[in-house]
This record gives sequence, structure tokens and C-alpha cells, in this order.
Amino acid sequence: MTADQDSNGSRIEFPEGFLWGTATAAHQIEGGNVNNDWWAWEHNPDSGCAESSGDGCDSWHRWREDVDLVADLGLGAYRFSLEWSRIEPAEGEWSIAALDHYRRICAACLGRGIQPVVTFHHFTTPLWLSARGGWEAPDAPERFARFVERAAAHLGDLIGWACTINEPNVIGVMGYTIGHFPPGVKDDLTRHVAVNAAMVRAHRLAVEALRSGPGTFPVGLTLSMAELVAVEGGEDLRDGAQEVLEDTFLAATGGDDFIGVQSYTRIRFGPKGLVGPEEGVPVTQMGYEYWPQVVEFTVRRAAAVTGLPVVVTENGIGTEDDTQRIAYISAALAGVRRCLDDGLDVRGYFAWSLLDNFEWSVGYRPKFGLVAVDRQTFERRPKPSALWFAEVAQKNALAGSPG
Ligand code: NOJ
Repeated sequence: MTADQDSNGSRIEFPEGFLWGTATAAHQIEGGNVNNDWWAWEHNPDSGCAESSGDGCDSWHRWREDVDLVADLGLGAYRFSLEWSRIEPAEGEWSIAALDHYRRICAACLGRGIQPVVTFHHFTTPLWLSARGGWEAPDAPERFARFVERAAAHLGDLIGWACTINEPNVIGVMGYTIGHFPPGVKDDLTRHVAVNAAMVRAHRLAVEALRSGPGTFPVGLTLSMAELVAVEGGEDLRDGAQEVLEDTFLAATGGDDFIGVQSYTRIRFGPKGLVGPEEGVPVTQMGYEYWPQVVEFTVRRAAAVTGLPVVVTENGIGTEDDTQRIAYISAALAGVRRCLDDGLDVRGYFAWSLLDNFEWSVGYRPKFGLVAVDRQTFERRPKPSALWFAEVAQKNALAGSPG
């Protein structure tokens, strides 16, 4: 059975020009990013982090192999991020060598017919700024915008799409409510909301900076979205969470060119807090529900709230079972197709992730990659899901009725 045919021979086609891509992030694959807040956090014995990001997938040196993999899979786009702490290692000091490095990646993508989708902030903040409070520093939005302006001046003519801040809502909730991300603050809604506001401002300034620099490309932010559901009287908590986690940022996208939706699972709220996975629903390596329906749910919600074109800038599953990955992505894509059938403007889908990589506080254990990476040799080995996804992209079509 091929990727575009099920046992009944039915076929789900995607619109011409639909963007098929895969995504990574600098700190999760480059290795040796010692000059940011995450490196410090991973090495803080009180942080609860499973391990150090260490060498990552050595993509700082092996990025050509990564671009080749994307090309070999026949994908039209590669989403990766710039490591701010490499480009601006000390406040106001710019590394031309680091900027050139990312310029080479963009150029290599374009040379292989791949759109470079550049994310300017993917969770990590340079140490010089985190020492002054990170997103709580009064001038953090301006410092971020200045970095974006400088980087775009160097790369803008080669950028395909730009994402300003990756999942600002996750930075807020994990850093100031749950405490699993730096600075590791728990249950401080005041600080959480203040950081949200700083990132909203940073996003707006970054959009302005990107639009006034070289190149013409769509600009947006990427948001982590979930199917937030209330069970047994959890409505108030769910509504409150929806406001702080999603609506604050959706409301900040006015005038953007797209909204990047990144969704993985459903989250259930009871009257006293999260109630965890429902009995009978399988859980992934991340401990949350296997819930591919979330993509359709969140694309619909993002489109309805913002009125913007939607790109699924991340979706995937942490699993050792590659067949389960194919089933999950299949089901997610069938949901995207239903959105398209209803006239929603969905422009593309990016599988998270190209490589098995550093999954933040839980380390290298969860396997999100289409491609496995040997942790000793860094050899990349495409999994069956990579070949399957390549076929979907090449045929621009998927089998019907996924399991
Ligand atoms: C969202 C984040 O952007 C990415 O860094 C992370 O690895 C994936 N989700 C999977 O959890």
C-alpha cells in the first residue's frame, strides 16, 4: 500500500503549492550552544533536566547533511532557527561568522529548491540577557528586535518565510507557571502575564523590523495550541488557561501574514487543575494523550480567531514506534484536508522533527524524528516514516481513512 492509497484505493489530495516541510530548532540539534540560558539550566542540578544538550546532533557542523536529507525527501521547506547567542554572543557584539553560517544554510536550501523557513527565537536567550532577567528585562523586546533587524539585514534576501518567536506561550507557562524551563519559576501568574506581554511586544517589533529589511517574505509567529477541554466542572480553569496560553497571542497577530499552529495533544481541566489522560486513550513518550485530532481542532480555532492563513509549523509524535508515527501524521493530515474542504486557508504542514533531537528538560529520550541519529557517530538514518512522508509530499496526496 503506498502513501496515497488505502485499502479501498481512496486518495486525499492537497492543493497545488501546499508546502510540505520539516522543522528543527538550533539548540535541539546544533550542539555546543554554551552561551544561552538553556545550557545553564541543563547544567543546574536543581532544574530537574534529564541531561545536557551536549553535542546535539552536531548540526552546527553537519547542517549540509540535514539540508541534503530534506532535499532527498523531496520536501519544499525546511524550518530551522537562528541561535541568538551565537549571533550576538555579548550585548551589541555581532558574529559575522555565525551570520554567514546561517546564510550558507539558507543558500543551500534555495539551491536545492527548499524554502528556508527561519525562526528567530526558539526558546533560548543569550546569557547576557538572561543575566538581566531574560524576557523580564525592561528592554528585552527592543533587544530582541535589534537582533532580528541585524540578522535579517544579513539574511533577509534569502529568507522564504519568517517566524518571529516560537511558542511564546510555552516560554511563559513552562518558565513561570510549571517551572520546567528557565528561569524555573512556579505558579507566578503576575510574572507569567508580564512575560507574555513582553513577548507580544517583541513580536510586533520583530514584524516591523523584518518588513523594513531586505527581502519580501511572509512573517508570523508560531503558537503552541491544544484542544483544551473541561471535564467535571473545569470550565473556569479551562477558560482562564485559554486566555493566558492562547488568546493573548492570537490577539497579537493582527496584520501578520500567517499564524503558525503547533499542536500535539489534548489537555483536560477539572475543577482543581489538570486531570491527565482519559482512561483508554493511549499516551505518547511525552506522557500526554495520543490525539492527532488536535490538528484539525487547532487549525480551525486559529483560523476563526485570527482570520489569517494558517501554516501547521509543527506537528508530530514522540514515539519509538515508527508505524504509530505514520498513523498519527496520517490522521492529522486527514484533519487538515477537512479544514481545506471547508474553505480554510491552510498553506502547509511541517513534521516535527527532521531528526531525533534534544527534547528540552526531558533530554534525548523522546523520539520525534523522521530520521534517527546515532548518539555516538551522529550518523543520520531515515526511518520508514521519512520515506512515507516523502511520498506524501511528492504525490501531494495521502491515503484515506488512516488508522
Ligand atoms: C514544540 C517545540 O517548538 C519544540 O521545540 C519541541 O521539541 C516540540 N514541540 C515537541 O515537544
